[in-house]
Amino acid sequence: MLKAVILIGGPQKGTRFRPLSLELPKPLFPVAGFPIIYHHIEACSKLPDIQDVLLIGTYQPSDSLNRFITSAQREFKFNIRYLQEYTALGTAGGLYHFRDQILSGQPKGFLVFNGDVCCKFPLAELWDFHEKVSQDDHYTMLSTEATRDQSLSYGCLVENENTHEVMHYVEKPQTFVSTVINCGLYVFPPEIFQHIGKAFQQNQDEVLNGDPLFPSKDTIRLEQDILAPLASTGKLFTFKTNNFWSQIKSAGSAIFANRLYLSLYHETHPDRLSDPKSETGPSIRGDVYIHPTATVDPTATLGPNVTIAANVTIGAGVRVRESIVLEGATLQDHCCILHSIIGWNSMVGAWSRVEGTPNDPNPNLDHAKMDSGTLFNGDGKLNPSITILGGKVVIPPEVIILNSIVLPHKELGYSIKNQILL
Ligand code: GTP
Repeated sequence: MLKAVILIGGPQKGTRFRPLSLELPKPLFPVAGFPIIYHHIEACSKLPDIQDVLLIGTYQPSDSLNRFITSAQREFKFNIRYLQEYTALGTAGGLYHFRDQILSGQPKGFLVFNGDVCCKFPLAELWDFHEKVSQDDHYTMLSTEATRDQSLSYGCLVENENTHEVMHYVEKPQTFVSTVINCGLYVFPPEIFQHIGKAFQQNQDEVLNGDPLFPSKDTIRLEQDILAPLASTGKLFTFKTNNFWSQIKSAGSAIFANRLYLSLYHETHPDRLSDPKSETGPSIRGDVYIHPTATVDPTATLGPNVTIAANVTIGAGVRVRESIVLEGATLQDHCCILHSIIGWNSMVGAWSRVEGTPNDPNPNLDHAKMDSGTLFNGDGKLNPSITILGGKVVIPPEVIILNSIVLPHKELGYSIKNQILL
């Protein structure tokens, strides 16, 4: 029997995802028509031995989380449960806190996913590799290739190419270590808790013996505190993938993840993609997902890389590309939406143009990743980025909204460029 744990963080994480994460926990943000962590759970469903998926985070239980779990539970055959940490305990601290739940039923191992990544998860290959790479207790990490410059923003590892053992691991190094980076997906046998337990005990000793003016940390980080010390001990191995992989940190990276998951549907769910040859529907370019409850005028043109959520209304002559239109939004006749996210129940007036600037990885560099940089540049100016309309924003007819972020419930009366509207 196998289990899976998805680390979903909490409201204090996902800050680069605002304002969208103000209205919905980031792990539930829909990408290619389904919540980010739905894609993780769906990948788990392809492993025959999976019996339990545990979501661990610090979010208060909410209607949206309950609804997601109930509907996923109905669709998949295994148990899906949410376990709430009383405070953010760190990526390994949360696992340790719920070790009894993870080990109940005596699984032979469990998968741990970072909740904020998108990937064509090679779970069967990863598990197979894990079983074959060593006969002793050992741990396996999924890795991929990045560019030399971008590798510094990730956990970097040096692999013995013959044995696949991880010889050296540094989280976000100051200087170049390796272009092989940690994907935030692991296979652990129950023995991992011995290592996390030692780190926990060390923290406790520091609390008891330390200076009360300088309280010790109460979090345990999987990468720095557990995995880095395991490098070159013969216990940590890596399985390298060439499948697509990206972090979902900023809203811009959700547009990129949307494109990646839509492209995956050609293999896994062609039925989710709109038919470009349909004579009755709107004109479809490339990969487009339209929820069956959306109403789209046949004269609209959508795509490539567009997701239209439930109960969206799209008028005549509308053009949408490289964008996500969230539930209940209305796009009035002849408006144009490019590289943008249109928030829940927002309205874009007729002949208006909502446009952002893509932050895609450099297509001329092998293994380039999405840069999830800061909102502002060194001069305090807003970096050009995708345009985001929060929930229930109203854009009047015939205006232009360019490279801007509009917070929820705002009614605009004029055109704006490079602004954050509070
Ligand atoms: P940043 O660039 O700082 O975001 O670092 P990172 O990419 O290494 O991410 P981090 O290690 O902070 O988080 C990896 C995953 O674990 C994300 O999905 C987080 O939401 C989740 N996570 C982070 N801290 C915690 C925690 O204390 N508890 C739980 N349950 N999840 C966490």
